[in-house]
Amino acid sequence: MAIPVIGSLNGVTDAGWTDYAKGMEEAGAAAIELNVYMLPADIHTTSAEVEQRYLDILAKVRETVSIPVAMKLSPFFSATANMAERLVAAGADGLVLFNRLYQPDLDLDQLSVNPSLTYSSPAEIRLPLLWIAVLHGRLNTSLAATTGVDSHLQVVKYLLAGADAVQTTSALLRHGSRHLRVLREGLERWLEEREYPSVAKLKGAMSQRNVADPEAYERANYLQTLLSYHAPHAA
Ligand SMILES: Cc1cc2nc3c(=O)[nH]c(=O)nc-3n(C[C@H](O)[C@H](O)[C@H](O)COP(=O)(O)O)c2cc1C
Repeated sequence: MAIPVIGSLNGVTDAGWTDYAKGMEEAGAAAIELNVYMLPADIHTTSAEVEQRYLDILAKVRETVSIPVAMKLSPFFSATANMAERLVAAGADGLVLFNRLYQPDLDLDQLSVNPSLTYSSPAEIRLPLLWIAVLHGRLNTSLAATTGVDSHLQVVKYLLAGADAVQTTSALLRHGSRHLRVLREGLERWLEEREYPSVAKLKGAMSQRNVADPEAYERANYLQTLLSYHAPHAA
């Protein structure tokens, strides 16, 4: 079976984005993922400028290659859904939700900034899960989920929310590449036990559009969520 290879690119300059994208296409990539990883730390850079940078990079790469192009997004836009829509309008064939920003820690012994890379945990699926559920069926693009996959359970949840593809990095680094088979077999077992005939039937079944209570994904549920909290040691 031929496995499509998707090139993931994180450029800096315009030429860097386009030259490497072209190189990936020529090398046989089936698609390109643009990882626009930037921390808008400059106090004079506006959100509009940051958003435009994403759109400009996409437009430049779109002009350069003819294979599908996906954008890997930051989770921290003011208007995530609108940004997603604008990227799709500008030609994004896929959106990858989300980039996981590296958050440095402080080493209190050395009094140094410690930019160590930690593996994700399943608890981290919630933010991408929420946005995939909200965006599923609303945009003419593919949605890929990334962050927090460790077992097939997170794969199932992402698919139910509406992901077209699910990515995993930490789990493969933690358990080795054979873990892919564990994920796949776990998913197959789960589908069989619940009598789902296919992944297609699962996909988006619990997206915001398809659940009985769409508000459960939004603020209307906020108060209810707070009220449902019970302190672990409450009398
Ligand atoms: C060692 C390591 C290297 C990574 N390198 C890249 C990279 O080159 N490009 C990229 O887009 N993401 C990179 N990532 C981020 C992952 O693609 C992914 O977004 C993040 O790890 C969250 O997914 P996970 O929970 O499956 O690990 C890297 C992550 C790790 C742990």
